Amino acid sequence: MEQVTFYNGVKMPIVGYGVYQVSQEECERCVIDALSLGYRSIDTAQSYFNEEQVGNAMVQSGIPRKEIFLTTKVWIEHYGYEATKKSVLESMRKLRTEYLDLVLLHQPFGDYYGAYRALEDLYTEGKLRAIGVSNFYPDRLVDIASFSRIKPMVNQVETHPFHQQKNAKKWMDTYGIQMEAWAPFGEGRGGLFEDPVLTEIAQKYGKSTAQIILRWHIQRGIVVIPKSAHKTRMAENLNVFDFALTQADMERISALDKEQSAFFSHSDPATVEWFVRMVEERKQKK
Ligand SMILES: NC(=O)c1ccc[n+]([C@@H]2O[C@H](COP(=O)([O-])OP(=O)(O)OC[C@H]3O[C@@H](n4cnc5c(N)ncnc54)[C@H](OP(=O)(O)O)[C@@H]3O)[C@@H](O)[C@H]2O)c1
Repeated sequence: MEQVTFYNGVKMPIVGYGVYQVSQEECERCVIDALSLGYRSIDTAQSYFNEEQVGNAMVQSGIPRKEIFLTTKVWIEHYGYEATKKSVLESMRKLRTEYLDLVLLHQPFGDYYGAYRALEDLYTEGKLRAIGVSNFYPDRLVDIASFSRIKPMVNQVETHPFHQQKNAKKWMDTYGIQMEAWAPFGEGRGGLFEDPVLTEIAQKYGKSTAQIILRWHIQRGIVVIPKSAHKTRMAENLNVFDFALTQADMERISALDKEQSAFFSHSDPATVEWFVRMVEERKQKK
């Protein structure tokens, strides 16, 4: 498996398996399937409510912990120095691990500075091998990279052929921060899997459109964490290392960019309000 290397020397597989919207009932089976196929990187989050299932699956797989790259993310309601520290230790308990390979701040809202200081300290203590952020658009990324003691190693943002994040990538490259794509297929929104250009390129290489999309990300140097609940698709998504797209095909895909989120913009105040409501609702349910 091809790997990327963060500025601190830590390596991460360029293809991993994401478990957002994988139900608690299915998660153990899915992660065991993924690991059995050769995935060695798993991306979960406190807000996916399946960390325990991921931890159980890793133990059941029998694969040594050090061979798996494990990521989780801190949710907004756990932001602030003390709460974040406590929540990461709780994630480690659920994930049945003594350390985490990568912990990200899930969203750039609330007391993310306090939260980030906690990640810096956990990193310094050796509990985290790498730390980073998610959904930090260029302004917030440059801000936290500039005013932190330990610059983020990773920024995980929505990235797919209809929302390519070229400007965001430029800033991450400038600061030596590894880009990671969430929703590498844009969850198939806007007819991405059926796009005529991608379909034509797929036919040419004898691959699926999903494989063409993943290969395009990889050739941009971007880490991908596709989700599938189906073992055949998990295998398909891993089978992207036996061919390479030509520069001309990379450029054809580059031209598909709509420069617009398939979901929502983190810079839109209405999005921020939506997250605030989500945090409030979750607090009330407790
Ligand atoms: N940091 C963040 O804010 C954030 C946000 C969203 C996601 N993420 C992370 O990114 C991961 C991936 O994103 P995502 O799950 O939202 O979307 P995605 O990976 O872009 O798309 C997943 C969808 O594509 C389908 N699919 C997967 N492989 C396929 C294939 N080979 N052919 C056809 N369809 C295929 C899946 O269906 P089936 O499952 O039915 O196969 C599912 O409906 C998440 O699991 C999570 O770890 C992070």
